[in-house]
Amino acid sequence: MARKVDVSGQVVLITGASRGLGRALAEAFGRGGAKLVLCARREAPLREVVEELERGGVEVEWSAADVRDAAGVGRLVSAAARRFGPISVLVNNASMLGPRVPLREHDLEEWRQVLDVNLTGTLVPILAVLPGMREAGAGSIVNVSSGVGNVARARWGAYAVSKWGVEALSRNLALEEEDSGVRVNIVDPGRLRTEMRRAAYPYEDPTRPARPSEAVGVFLWLASPESAGVTGERFQALEWR
Ligand SMILES: NC(=O)c1ccc[n+]([C@@H]2O[C@H](COP(=O)([O-])OP(=O)(O)OC[C@H]3O[C@@H](n4cnc5c(N)ncnc54)[C@H](OP(=O)(O)O)[C@@H]3O)[C@@H](O)[C@H]2O)c1
Repeated sequence: MARKVDVSGQVVLITGASRGLGRALAEAFGRGGAKLVLCARREAPLREVVEELERGGVEVEWSAADVRDAAGVGRLVSAAARRFGPISVLVNNASMLGPRVPLREHDLEEWRQVLDVNLTGTLVPILAVLPGMREAGAGSIVNVSSGVGNVARARWGAYAVSKWGVEALSRNLALEEEDSGVRVNIVDPGRLRTEMRRAAYPYEDPTRPARPSEAVGVFLWLASPESAGVTGERFQALEWR
């Protein structure tokens, strides 16, 4: 059983919240009393998640924003700040898999798209929330990586390279913000039963990977005062107790 941590009153932006890990995070933070700020590209599936959360009494600001779109993400962050106050926690979860091919076969357009969504799409929300966090002198940014984000793996294309980039961005930002009160950490969620996992491993027994809800504990902890002072670190969600 995971440790109990307090996230009540936190204003938490989760990207890619319409399914998979992002949805499980939204549900867990909502249950913990956080105010939620959610996005994903497609409106209908996100709306369903939001309506369910609101039926459970959770306050949610949301928009069908693409993490590549600085203006769209900026509008969402501004609307959330007006309603709830500044974002105190950012979980950069949205990502796309792209083709699992050797680099010599990579289509350049797909390469650009994956790096744009996974790497630039991690920086865009950071740039939107960082001024508010710096002004508050506090904030927690959690960037979602992968098991292929810090070890060499063949045939993982732009996805693996983008996650190495996410890890470098996280570590450099953690250093840059050392004195500002803004913490930046990396989480490798592990093998989770989601659409992305099914696309990456189409022949795997789909019930083998863990449920996304099993991976949320470390995210709640990183968002809570219990993790004060922790920055520039990497965690494995399924091993965290
Ligand atoms: N599942 C695993 O086993 C596993 C393992 C290692 C790492 N991860 C990482 O864990 C995170 C969550 O993965 P998952 O398996 O839950 O993925 P998923 O099931 O494919 O869900 C991805 C979410 O991101 C949204 N999204 C995709 N592109 C977006 C964009 N450009 N802008 C905004 N939202 C976007 C999707 O909604 P729309 O399509 O409507 O935008 C969806 O809500 C990712 O960072 C992934 O790399 C997962």
